[in-house]
Amino acid sequence: MARILMLMGPNLNMLGQREPEIYGTITLEGTRQLCESAAFALGHEIDFRQSNHEGVLVDWIQEAAGKNAPFAGVIINAAAYTHTSVAIHDALKLLNVPIIEVHFSDPEIREPFRHHSYIKPLAAAIIKGEGAEGHARAVRTLSTMIA
Ligand code: DQA
Repeated sequence: MARILMLMGPNLNMLGQREPEIYGTITLEGTRQLCESAAFALGHEIDFRQSNHEGVLVDWIQEAAGKNAPFAGVIINAAAYTHTSVAIHDALKLLNVPIIEVHFSDPEIREPFRHHSYIKPLAAAIIKGEGAEGHARAVRTLSTMIA
């Protein structure tokens, strides 16, 4: 049994009503349940958190740093901070557990300002464009890395 830290960034609390043509109609709670079931089926536990605040995300990532960190891996949809946050990049650099980057949409086929990811160089895998199901797949992918 492993503990997985799953972090969701700004505006993802508005899923369900936010641009459904891009993000689908599933809510953040629905996404959490999907990911929890995927983790449970593999015998893992998920700590699923969302924040609109960059510094809060940095604090949470730091909880996964260090030798005695309670998490075997981190899955992150940093949302807009993916494209802007050197602070989140630096925090992720502290980790020595696998990191998976995930997105509902595929930012690389959207506006040019979404094409760069500060998380990509640190990610063991990137799953994008598969909606909420892609987030559950990130759990299964991470599970193969922490087995
Ligand atoms: C997103 C893609 C980002 O570009 C955007 O800012 C988001 C959501 C996604 O899951 O598709 O807020 O991370």
